[in-house]
Amino acid sequence: MSNKYKNIKNRIFYLRKKLNLWSDYYYNKNQSLVEDSVYDFNLLKLSKLEHKYPFLRSQDSPTQAIGQDCNVKLLQIQHKSLMLSLDSISNNTELFKFNKKIQKILNTGEEITYCCELKIDGLAINLTYEYGILVRASTRGNGVFGEDVTKNALMMQTIPYNLKTNDTACKYIEIRGEVFINKSKFFKLNEVAKLNNKKLFSNPRNAASGSLRQINPKITENRYLMFYAYGIGYSDGYKLPDSQYKRLKILKLWNIPTNHYTKICVGLHQIVNYYNTIKKIRKTLDFEIDGIVIKVDSILHQNKIGCVAKAPKWAIAYKFPALEKITKIISVDFTIGRTGIVTPIAQIKPVCFLGTIVKFVSLYNFNEINRLNVMINDTVIVKHVGEVIPKISKVIFSKRTKNAKKIIFPKKCKICDSDIISIVGKKKWYCSGGITCHAQKKAALIHFASRNALNIRGMGKKIISKLVDKKILITPADFFRLDLKKITRINKIQLKSGKNLINSIKNSKEVKLHRLIYGLGIPQVGLTTSINLENYYKTYYNFINSDFHSLLKIKDIGQSTAVCIRKFLENKNNISFIQDLLQLNLKIK
Ligand code: IVH
Repeated sequence: MSNKYKNIKNRIFYLRKKLNLWSDYYYNKNQSLVEDSVYDFNLLKLSKLEHKYPFLRSQDSPTQAIGQDCNVKLLQIQHKSLMLSLDSISNNTELFKFNKKIQKILNTGEEITYCCELKIDGLAINLTYEYGILVRASTRGNGVFGEDVTKNALMMQTIPYNLKTNDTACKYIEIRGEVFINKSKFFKLNEVAKLNNKKLFSNPRNAASGSLRQINPKITENRYLMFYAYGIGYSDGYKLPDSQYKRLKILKLWNIPTNHYTKICVGLHQIVNYYNTIKKIRKTLDFEIDGIVIKVDSILHQNKIGCVAKAPKWAIAYKFPALEKITKIISVDFTIGRTGIVTPIAQIKPVCFLGTIVKFVSLYNFNEINRLNVMINDTVIVKHVGEVIPKISKVIFSKRTKNAKKIIFPKKCKICDSDIISIVGKKKWYCSGGITCHAQKKAALIHFASRNALNIRGMGKKIISKLVDKKILITPADFFRLDLKKITRINKIQLKSGKNLINSIKNSKEVKLHRLIYGLGIPQVGLTTSINLENYYKTYYNFINSDFHSLLKIKDIGQSTAVCIRKFLENKNNISFIQDLLQLNLKIK
């Protein structure tokens, strides 16, 4: 071994020794010798070295430890520039309109040059390189904040640790793309899971997401995830070409994987040809795609065209047509949502769409049942368009038999026996039980603990439901009154997972204002509105004292949302449970 490798080997040994010592004190002696961040930093350093010099890897390295840190959640990272999503179209008429709009904005009648790409069905990742070295990787998350998956990305063979460029002026660059799993690998993964009696992944996208967002990067390494870049985010010090196509080419030169089906198309005719070709070869690809992405090629033009809230106006996803399956309605049940809305759910004879098994479909509301004229035991067509949940598109009346049964909307809530009412002018039916209805209470608490709200990891539907049944959880503040004794009163919760839950609750005690607002479940206030509210009011006290007129000044808030917010804040019960949360030391950041 040369001197250079001897030195690296020594550094690796030293890091392992140090990390093992810290970890031994932490897990076995309940003592933290260093801050978590110092541990993480050193572990990352070791991971990087092991990634770069695979022959120096070892099974007993702390980077390979399984399960130790299963309690730690992935850190949140704010993206330097928003991670956008895409609007989509599904036919040539919409494509024509898209092109017309672009021509109008650019004030030209000439053919537009587009960069056409595959729309890969995986999950978006943002790779940050500083001076050509991979320093951070994060998922898209909500577009503003994503999860830190650096350790995992470092384990992926397809993501290079350094960019193949020697330009020292290149300080900082964010490379964005899609992480996915090959179809063949996905089937193998599920075969193994089946043999081991483990839960199966419902489709390749879930498998990719589950494999990347792992606390233990070793698992990511064994899943053979793939990556294709599709763009560049923020950069500093780079002289980048002024075309999307050329940018992808330069990424390729730097050793970043890009897909070779990417093509320049001038005008509509060439786009349609590209779309048809890709649709034909779709089956032959070893990864899932759900359409193509059409991007204005000139970066200058992209900047001129601009973006709407979450998506660029200069790009569009042209999705492949919906898949259709014929099946049968077995029964219909009614679920009660967070705001009391009653939703009819049909159980169908299971059908499979692109590897996902579908057993239930929503019938949305009473009007939809009438519109479809659907009955129990009917033969129906179920449609699946892109990422949208499958729905019934048609009843095959010629196949209706004598045992077809009318779907009767309940008059009473099956959970709390309150009356089911309809509100004049609305298509929806509601359980009148309000928060006294167990189903509504459970749904509100599930929402409060969910990922975009307080993000109490491990506190899922089943546990919350049991805690409500045992009257341990009544309001959101009760999450912070839980202790190990209360949690382990629930069947099947072992001491270890109980401890993990208590830790997750502790970690959620510091919360960003928009997460708290979103978690309150105010009707019509989704994540984007919550972020806008935080940006405007800055503090919790400003928010609860907001008046109707100032609410209307906020981006995306109209009269009806402002009314919902005011009504919620005027309800003393709501304010008192928030005060309750603050008294339990919830810290709003
Ligand atoms: S561009 C600036 N290009 O599709 C626009 N996205 O539905 C950002 N995706 O979140 C996206 N293949 O994860 C772009 N060639 C491609 C893509 C692609 C897959 C994903 C991406 C995005 C989602 C939007």
